[in-house]
Amino acid sequence: MSALPDRAAAARMDEDDPLASLRAQFHLPARDDGSPAVYFCGHSLGLAPLRAAQIVNEELAFWAERGVEGHFTAPRPWLSYHEQLTDGLARLAGAAASEVVAMNSLTVNLHLMLTSFYRPTRERHRILIEGQAFSSDRYAVSAQIMQRGFDPATSLLEVEPRSDEACIRTDDLCELIEQEGPHIATVLLPGVQYLTGQRFDMATVAACARRQGCAVGFDLAHAIGNVPLSLHDWNADFAVWCSYKYLNAGPGAIGGCFVHERHARSTDLPRLAGWWGHDKASRFEMPETFAPLPGAEGWQVSNPPILAAAPLLASLELFERAEMARLRTKSQALTGLLETLLQARLGQALTILTPPEPAARGCQLSIRLQRSPQQARAVHAMLTAAGYVCDWREPDVIRVAPVPLYNTFTEVWDFVTALESALRHPSGM
Ligand SMILES: Cc1ncc(COP(=O)(O)O)c(C=O)c1O
Repeated sequence: MSALPDRAAAARMDEDDPLASLRAQFHLPARDDGSPAVYFCGHSLGLAPLRAAQIVNEELAFWAERGVEGHFTAPRPWLSYHEQLTDGLARLAGAAASEVVAMNSLTVNLHLMLTSFYRPTRERHRILIEGQAFSSDRYAVSAQIMQRGFDPATSLLEVEPRSDEACIRTDDLCELIEQEGPHIATVLLPGVQYLTGQRFDMATVAACARRQGCAVGFDLAHAIGNVPLSLHDWNADFAVWCSYKYLNAGPGAIGGCFVHERHARSTDLPRLAGWWGHDKASRFEMPETFAPLPGAEGWQVSNPPILAAAPLLASLELFERAEMARLRTKSQALTGLLETLLQARLGQALTILTPPEPAARGCQLSIRLQRSPQQARAVHAMLTAAGYVCDWREPDVIRVAPVPLYNTFTEVWDFVTALESALRHPSGM
């Protein structure tokens, strides 16, 4: 059995890390004494790339100096601004450029997608989600069901983990889809589950759903920029995401959307149309009839928020430099080290809810402490006070996400040591 890595071993991993220089491209939040905090909260809000402020300021300056001209003559013309984001997003989504678009925010995009890809009939009216779905997804799906004259009590179908298990087994999920298939209109699942960190087997789920004639979509809030994606090859119908987590585009940043190319020119899909989804060539002629752009762009409604899109440009530049495959390799090593140290040093005091198989998770580990809720909260508060930024999710989960773009192996080692000492403190015991 190999020896448990000590701090010096973690430091050597940092020295050998080919992506180590990227950390310097981000602002690192500081502790009160000025030293950098250990930021393991990229699953909630990614850190600010240094260049984000520069790009935002360039847009602000052009607006101040030239006003409306910026739509046409700014160095990055605002009229076609979102197009600069397309190639980078397409690479992260595993899609053709025509299949992705940066627009709106996640839940808005989910409503836009469900308008097109939830087509209930008397026989087939159910939407399958997971029992622990993020609240916003549940609200959106329920609202869509009601809007079409159905009742969530009968049209919302939920898949749950087995009792005493935290994560959903792919086999159970596919079995349910096969059983209920003729009644399921749409399957909506996360790429990575927000609470447990489980990465769903999107390829298998999509294939299973499509065999049953269901539309299938993914909420990629916790997946894009975290795990490699192949939405086109997996044949998903649609996907939605936000850019403020692993895409580091800042609070409330512009979201994104994938629509498979088989729908690129669909004329029979209902959609909530707006002028930005209309044919570019005639958009400013203001014709009466809506003629959608082919591809995902045809689902745009409004002109994009430039100041909420600019930071994403800075972040996508860093993803280009890093390359997703190399990030994934580092991510698995970082999270693997976190898991090894937690199990070896604190295995008696906690349970890791996230699957142990590297392929079944992203960078996040979700931890449940073997303590009363009050003590567990005290432990989390001690970590926060010591400058370790991770979050608490009700009812009793601490989420910890070492992000390969800016976190280090030494930080992982220090975090486990800090957790160990918080667990030994009287208020955490
Ligand atoms: C899994 C998931 N879905 C949906 C949302 C809602 O995102 P938005 O507020 O951008 O619509 C979030 C936000 O954190 C999320 O984590």
